[in-house]
Amino acid sequence: MGKFYVTTAIDYVNGVPHIGHAYEKILTDVIYRHYTQRCENTFFLTGTDEHGIKIQKTSAEKGISPKEFCDMNAQSFKDAWKKLDIGYSKFIRTTDEEHEKVVQKIFQKLLDKGDIYKHAYTGLYCSGCEAFLSEKDLTEDGLCPDHQKKPEVVSEENYFFKLTKYKDAIIKHIQTHPDFIMPSWRATEVLNQLEHIEDISVSRSKSNVSWNIPVLNDDEQGIYVWIDALSNYITAIGYDPDGSSDLFKALWPVDVHVIGKDILKFHSIYWIGILMALDLPLPKHIFAHGWITIDQTKMSKSLGNVISPTSILESFNLEIPDPLRYYMATSAPCGKDGNYSDDDFKEKVNAHLANSMGNLLNRTLSMLVKYFDGDIKPGFLGKNELTEQAVNTIKAVKHHFDYFEIAEAGQKIIELVDITNKYVTDNAPWTLAKEGNMERCGVVLTNVLEVMCVITSLIYPYCPNIARSMSDQLSYNLDTKLDNLTCSNLKSGHLIDKENIKPVFLRMDSELADKAQKIK
Ligand code: ME8
Ligand code: MG
Repeated sequence: MGKFYVTTAIDYVNGVPHIGHAYEKILTDVIYRHYTQRCENTFFLTGTDEHGIKIQKTSAEKGISPKEFCDMNAQSFKDAWKKLDIGYSKFIRTTDEEHEKVVQKIFQKLLDKGDIYKHAYTGLYCSGCEAFLSEKDLTEDGLCPDHQKKPEVVSEENYFFKLTKYKDAIIKHIQTHPDFIMPSWRATEVLNQLEHIEDISVSRSKSNVSWNIPVLNDDEQGIYVWIDALSNYITAIGYDPDGSSDLFKALWPVDVHVIGKDILKFHSIYWIGILMALDLPLPKHIFAHGWITIDQTKMSKSLGNVISPTSILESFNLEIPDPLRYYMATSAPCGKDGNYSDDDFKEKVNAHLANSMGNLLNRTLSMLVKYFDGDIKPGFLGKNELTEQAVNTIKAVKHHFDYFEIAEAGQKIIELVDITNKYVTDNAPWTLAKEGNMERCGVVLTNVLEVMCVITSLIYPYCPNIARSMSDQLSYNLDTKLDNLTCSNLKSGHLIDKENIKPVFLRMDSELADKAQKIK
């Protein structure tokens, strides 16, 4: 496979990152890392969405300039992603000069084409959504259903984008591309929304909102959130109406936009209309993930239950983010809502990463040292009895990733770990050694270690640090592409000494973990 370009939503910077933001970036990083194991040319874009009325108001309340406020918060997003090992290729900020310039040109191009026109308008504006809502979007009490706030009545002369011109083409595209919106059951909801779409406002009057990108040749109007925000996916890689970069030519169309279900409409309707108007190819997939709750409760500032991902790492004294990455990435079936709870987190990662996976490697290597001085003899190789299971798991994991079923793929990996643990129990290498059946004992241990190499590659996108520690102990090349991955990765000879066997992940509540905390 050739290239793979993946993006996340860009987060509003009116606050610091929470676990919902982190969930999306982790999912995307897992997808990205998986595809680095399948493609030569990969690119992962994330960033922050920095214009709009909310930022303008919040920064004014704090008595600092919007730019200073954005700088501060954008940095806290970058810091958090660093701690979570989010390996993005580029971090775009919508206040980047390059982005602003190209957005102005995009706006002008659509204006010249007649797809943007000026129109006096009265609408209901929700600053939480940064969008105009229609009456039927509201609750019985006239509130925005997502923000439980009464929208403001706004009367302005604005520029509008002729979305209705593209309505039929968008419907047709969705209907003829069943894997365009993923999971595919969400397409029905989008098709229903398309029935009622109108042209959309794409600017705000400067007198009402000043913190935005100015419309060229019109001092009265600023470009309003969505054309600015959505265009990040192309400006970041060098789109330019006057001639795009080689990077853009190599990467566009994007393979997948990863976003939350609340902004699916903007991506699968508005963005598609804009791309059609720009005569650009359409995204291959839009993957809408579900919502993360805390202890089954919606996160909200008023409830005081907004959790920051870095505070979880700190409170468990975790030096690597792998457990949190694994837990979040597997917290919900594809597209469904998930939940975070401290107890569940601890229980799940202890069971899967420490007890099942880590322990399996640890005790197998320990037996190899105990019975064979850490050597793999030529006669132990090439008799793999677990090959079929491992090869099936590689196939299944790839298939799940093709549908962005990240939790489902994770489950397949842990099933392979369980099968391998059962193989150890059934074959009891310690009994074979006691009986003097050393040849068979060596074959069994080597079989397990071969499968551990496969598991190392498959778990890598979720747990890059743990995978590195596993690959070190197995002398296994973690750069092996999944298409070349077999169940015969080991060579005969000396593999490991006793002092180099290390637990890859310590139970979060064990004595060892306590000790590790104190050493720190
Ligand atoms: O919507 N669980 O920004 P945002 C899961 N700037 N995902 C969540 C979540 C939760 N509790 N809370 C938020 C915006 N998200 C725009 C996007 S893209 C061109 C512009 C997700 O900061 C949300 O669904 O409100 C979205 O995908 C992302 O975090 C940023 O949300
Ligand atoms: Mg939001």
